[in-house]
Amino acid sequence: MASVGSMTNPDDPLGLRDDAPLLDGWLSYRASGPVPFGTPGHKQRLDLVGPVVRDDIPLYGGVDTIRQQAGAIAEADRRLARAWGADWGRISVGGSTHGNQTLMLALCRPGDTVVVTRTLHRSLLLGMVLAGVTPVWVRPDVDPTTGLPTHVPVERVRAALAAHPEAKAVFLVEPTYVGTVSDVAAHAEVAHAHGIPLVVDQAWGAYFGFHPDLPRHAIQAGADAMVTSAHKTLPAYTQAALVLARTQRIDPHRLDRAFDATATTSPSGTIAASADAARALMERDGRRLLGHLIRIVDHARERFRDVPGLVLLDDVVDRSVILDRVKLAINVSGTGATGLAIEEDLIALGMPVELADRDTVVPIISVNDDQGSVDQFVDSVIASVERQRCASRPVLPSIAWTVEPDVILSPREAYFAEHETVSADRAIGQVSAELVAPYPPGIPVLAPGERITAAAVGGLRDAMADGTQVRYAADPTLKTFQVVSHT
Ligand SMILES: Cc1ncc(COP(=O)(O)O)c(C=O)c1O
Repeated sequence: MASVGSMTNPDDPLGLRDDAPLLDGWLSYRASGPVPFGTPGHKQRLDLVGPVVRDDIPLYGGVDTIRQQAGAIAEADRRLARAWGADWGRISVGGSTHGNQTLMLALCRPGDTVVVTRTLHRSLLLGMVLAGVTPVWVRPDVDPTTGLPTHVPVERVRAALAAHPEAKAVFLVEPTYVGTVSDVAAHAEVAHAHGIPLVVDQAWGAYFGFHPDLPRHAIQAGADAMVTSAHKTLPAYTQAALVLARTQRIDPHRLDRAFDATATTSPSGTIAASADAARALMERDGRRLLGHLIRIVDHARERFRDVPGLVLLDDVVDRSVILDRVKLAINVSGTGATGLAIEEDLIALGMPVELADRDTVVPIISVNDDQGSVDQFVDSVIASVERQRCASRPVLPSIAWTVEPDVILSPREAYFAEHETVSADRAIGQVSAELVAPYPPGIPVLAPGERITAAAVGGLRDAMADGTQVRYAADPTLKTFQVVSHT
């Protein structure tokens, strides 16, 4: 691996390539000026479709040469596992979506039951369709002031396991979209006392465990497996994700099989190399970078506290709830402004946020932000709030956090069942054949196999009327729904 002069190399400004085999492979391949006679068809040339294909290098036969497939990739995965204290780790180019499917397929068999948080991402639910698993849902508590989820109480999972001793695993999503975290260590104890693994979708917490003032990551807290989206919060390409496991309770061969079953056979080396680089960066400089991030987010928090009517989730949530200190979840209902109008103002300024709904705005502030960019964001939010300021309104918790499931069929049975399209009125009381979710956060409000309720349909329509995107419905107007025939 090259190292001489890498500290001053603009292609590797922090000199990470010595500890990042895929980054090293990527830089070497690019520098070699290849004239490839394999995929991709753009051949690293920009003269036909332009710079949209710039720097796209495949993982196999590019970042890692065909003959060395087991070399750099295996080494990068080994370093990944070591960095998280896991026994097994794989870099994915398919997002946490791929990781969730992998873990569901690796841990479960058709007909199994699992205890799962109902505020799961759709990818985990579709993992259940693939694996043929039936969920026993547990729900998080919701903070009454902001209408946002706080944590899944351990007692709720313990009760679910007592009622379903046949359950094969517990699946949680930690942190939530808004930065609240359950007591993962206590959940791990409960699952292990039951003789089953705890799996955590940690899509939003890729930096957990790399600074003492941030929550420990799921593996540190005792979970058996986790997935995280490197791309969401670390300096990695869109789609880069990390899947990690301890193998005491999980078979590593099934993990590999499940990972490969749901992965593309043509992974992007650029995405993978960026994940490898982000891992090396976090291991070496994470504490310093996150310390800086904590300071700039704390400063933003202080400024938001001065805005009358604006509420930060961390200021009102029960003190026992664990919080991600670099996540801001801002409730604006007390100012009369709406999160969606703030989002519009921010988009006009070229500053789109991760989540906005009627009452809430959630930005992602990452180690790539600096005081200047965050100050500009805070100024813009405050200006938008003041422009819209009017009478405050009561908080209306999003249906995504409060949905009350009534499971009639397993997700897989409903997914593959014959279905028919009926009017919304007729759909109420019938079993949903489709998955419908406000996005973000991508939590299914209608899930295949669950009875469709008036509250769910009303909540989806309210969300849509407020301007929230409601995705995946066969009829995007929500006038009709697809229901399972003859149940
Ligand atoms: C909790 C959670 N899990 C998984 C995912 C899927 O992640 P990705 O977009 O990396 O596939 C998301 C996406 O928003 C998510 O919020």
